[in-house]
Order: sequence, then C-alpha cells, then structure tokens
Amino acid sequence: MKGLILSGGKGTRLRPLTYTRAKQLTPIANKPVLFRVIEALCDAGITEIGIIIAADTGAEIQETVGNGSRWGVNITFIPQSAPLGLAHAVKTAQPFIGDDRFVMYLGDNVIQGGISSLIADFVNHPEWNSQIVLKHVEQPEQFGVAILSEDGRIKSLVEKPKSFISDLALIGVYMFDSHIFEAADAIKPSWRNELEITDAIQWLVQNGYNVYPHIHEGWWIDTGKQDDMLRANSYVLEELTPAINGTVDLQSSVDARVTIEAGAEVINSVIRGPAIIGEGTRIVNSYIGPFTSIYHHCTIEHCEIEYSIVLENSSIQDVDTRIQDSLIGRNVEIARGTQRPKALKLTLADYSKLGIQ
Ligand code: DAU
Repeated sequence: MKGLILSGGKGTRLRPLTYTRAKQLTPIANKPVLFRVIEALCDAGITEIGIIIAADTGAEIQETVGNGSRWGVNITFIPQSAPLGLAHAVKTAQPFIGDDRFVMYLGDNVIQGGISSLIADFVNHPEWNSQIVLKHVEQPEQFGVAILSEDGRIKSLVEKPKSFISDLALIGVYMFDSHIFEAADAIKPSWRNELEITDAIQWLVQNGYNVYPHIHEGWWIDTGKQDDMLRANSYVLEELTPAINGTVDLQSSVDARVTIEAGAEVINSVIRGPAIIGEGTRIVNSYIGPFTSIYHHCTIEHCEIEYSIVLENSSIQDVDTRIQDSLIGRNVEIARGTQRPKALKLTLADYSKLGIQ
C-alpha cells in the first residue's frame, strides 16, 4: 500500500493565517496537522508517501517536511497544476501510485485513534476496490455524504447536498485500488468546478465495484476553519502525554496535564492543563488556562490566555482582559502602549477578526 496526502487547495476559510502559510502546516498542540497525518500513515506501516502540493504553498511544505527520513519513510512531492478537486489530485498522482492500492488522507484532517485498523481491513480484503470512512455529523451540508441501504451497503453519494439526505459524512480518509483512475477520468467537474472524489466513488458504486463503508465512532475534525482548529487543538491536548522538559520556578503552579517543551521557562505563573508551552517560550506573571497551545519562542507576560492557539515568535504583554477562543498568528505583537492618547492601535491583516468587549 502507498499513501497519498492531499496538501494542495486554497485554504480560504482559514484566512488570514493562510495568506502566509499552507493551512496544513498550522500546528495543533504544537505539531503541524500535516505531520500528524504523516505519522498516522507511518503508524499504519506505510513507507511510500506522496504529498500533493499547490504552486503557492508547495515550496514551504517541501522545506518543512523534508524527504521523510525523520519518520523513516520516503516522501515524494507531487505538484498539482491548480486546485481542481480531490479527484483531479488523484489523477495527478497516478504516475506515483501506478497499480498499487493506496490510502488517500486529506492533509487538513485529524482523526482520533489513527488508521492502522482501517488499513489492515483493506489489506485483508483484496476484493474490495475501495473503502470509505463515514461519520454521523451535525452539518452534513458542509461535506460529501453517503446514503446507505438497509444491509449497510452504499446506495449513493452526494457532495455538499443542498437539502438533507443523510448525516453520514465522508471523512478525510479513503482507500482505493487503481479503478479510481478510471472513475476520475469518467466524471465531469461539479458546480464548484472541481472534480469531486465523491462523484468518482459514486461512479465506482454505479459501475458495480465493491466500495465498503466504515463508520468512525471517535472524533474527527476537518481543520478548515478557526473554530475547528481550536476544537481539534482541545481534543489532541486532551490525549497528549504530559512532560516537563523546560523550567518552572517555585512561584509557579503547573498542573499535571501540562507539557512544557525544552528550553521553555515558566516564571511566577499558573498553567492549568491540558496545555502545551513550546520550545524557548517564556511565560511570565501570567495565567495559561485549559486547551491552550503556545508555540515556540513566544513571550507571554502579564496576561491571561485560555482555549487558544498562539503561533511561533509572538509576544503578548500586559493585556488586562483575558484572551480566549483566539487563534493568534506568527510574529504577532500585542502590547500595552505608553503614549497618549489612550486608544487601540491596530495593524491587522486582511480578513483579521478582533473581538472587543
Ligand atoms: O473534510 C472532509 C471533506 O473533504 C469531505 O466530506 C468532502 O467530500 C471532500 O470533498 C472534502 O471537502 P472540502 O471542500 O472540505 O475539501 P477541501 O477543499 O478543504 O480540501 C481537502 C484537502 O485536500 C485540503 O488539505 C486541500 C487538499 N486539496 C484540495 C483540492 C480542492 C488538494 O490537495 N487539491 C485540490 O484540488
């Protein structure tokens, strides 16, 4: 089995962060989502991995991921000419996949429990042409959905249905054999001008190929939007094994579910887990509350932060209102001004959101 990770696309729903970085590189609990995906494939024993990349973010992804040696796998980068859909990405990867069976994993999805047992199921059933993973969701109109017949087989699939037909969403893990290439060649672009993988799978079903559904019971998050990022962060933090590798002074109180990475310093502060403090970050006279990830080389001084993600090299100082439900980018500076007039002085990128109470 080979692995194919989709890390192209546009990332418009996560602006402004995605103006300067691929959405798949945004960290969840201080590790890029894409690294979590690669690790899930490694844990399932897959060592040949192709990553689909887009023209604008591909170079950064290549540079950050490298050749895979740090995970003991081979990584091949596959540029996609334009974000023309998941089935277009599959077609683009055909020379890499060849005749092998493969698992396709969306590079912005986080799935509880890994995919080892799913891969094992597919490997043990050579007669299956495809296996898809489904989950009951509250807003099925945002996803591809499947309708199952009474015997649990797939009847049909629809991408982002306008009215309710099923609450079983296709989540970002799919397994295929090489018939998917025939399907991707046969379908036409959808209303959003994309070759939809959902339509390609529907083609397999219609043409009598064996497509098996697996219903996922754990959590799953498509991290495409800010709220989803924060939710994924809270779920992953909850499952992290805590470790204190930085320094905590005697005046600080750090609870049992906190990870402090190497070179981080906690001075006269309270940290309530689950939370993670990144490498070389300084937390001074502050409160870091549950479900917070502060990435590397940040400074947090005289602040209270909870249920938030702060990205690398940012500095937040002397804010007397608690910062909550926030996603703060890289190299951001938030500080109390000393000059009159007393006013908010803002430099915000396009599509930024600022909530003032
Ligand atoms: O998250 C699950 C959903 O993912 C499924 O329920 C849908 O059926 C499926 O179409 C997909 O929907 P999205 O509209 O959320 O897909 P998105 O554009 O976010 O792309 C998913 C990943 O694939 C993302 O990491 C970007 C990458 N991608 C996307 C496109 C359109 C590519 O690599 N190339 C592309 O052409």
